[in-house]
Amino acid sequence: MAKKDDSGSHARSEVLLELLRLDAGSAVALVGHPIHVMMVHFPIAFVVATLGVDVIYWWSGDPFWVRAGLWVAGFAFWSGVAASFVGTAELLLVPGIRLREASWSHAVAAMTLVAIAGANWGVRLFYPAEILPHGLALSALASVMTGFAGWHGGKLVFDHGVGIMVSPKE
Ligand code: HEM
Repeated sequence: MAKKDDSGSHARSEVLLELLRLDAGSAVALVGHPIHVMMVHFPIAFVVATLGVDVIYWWSGDPFWVRAGLWVAGFAFWSGVAASFVGTAELLLVPGIRLREASWSHAVAAMTLVAIAGANWGVRLFYPAEILPHGLALSALASVMTGFAGWHGGKLVFDHGVGIMVSPKE
């Protein structure tokens, strides 16, 4: 437990105070808007859409949904890769982001998600007959991982204030 200081409040560790002093503003931004934050909506939407497409295919058996799933799973993977490049640049370039444990939790969850999304696209490219059940299972797993990655990403912005206040007008 932290010791109390002279004023009676809990003393904060030097490490935490140093962390608060470090810049955590976005380094990869377009006219003051962090680019990673703008990109992440695409993998989130495409991953969940892939699950929806698989469920409709399971229910209907219509091969149209196999072709639709190939495309939407591909967009999920490649938009995730693109978002991850920008996220990694933020992580490595900004000291206040790099030194936060929460940033690395988000990065690990996001990279796991992108790996699953890649496997899901690969199943559709090379083994389309395996979509039921393997593609469907990967889509469900990817959707759960999207929840983890997105929740940790949201914590970075809303709890830690990472990636905000980059506008020179502020
Ligand atoms: C190696 C991969 C990744 C790294 C290192 C990374 C890093 C970051 C960082 C540093 C932030 C804080 C905002 C900023 O500085 O721009 C953030 C926010 C966020 N990230 Fe990632 N990210 C990665 C991949 C992803 C992916 C694939 C997704 C999609 C699920 C994602 C979803 C989010 C979300 C939802 C936020 C919060 C944005 C908001 O609240 O609008 N990230 N990420």
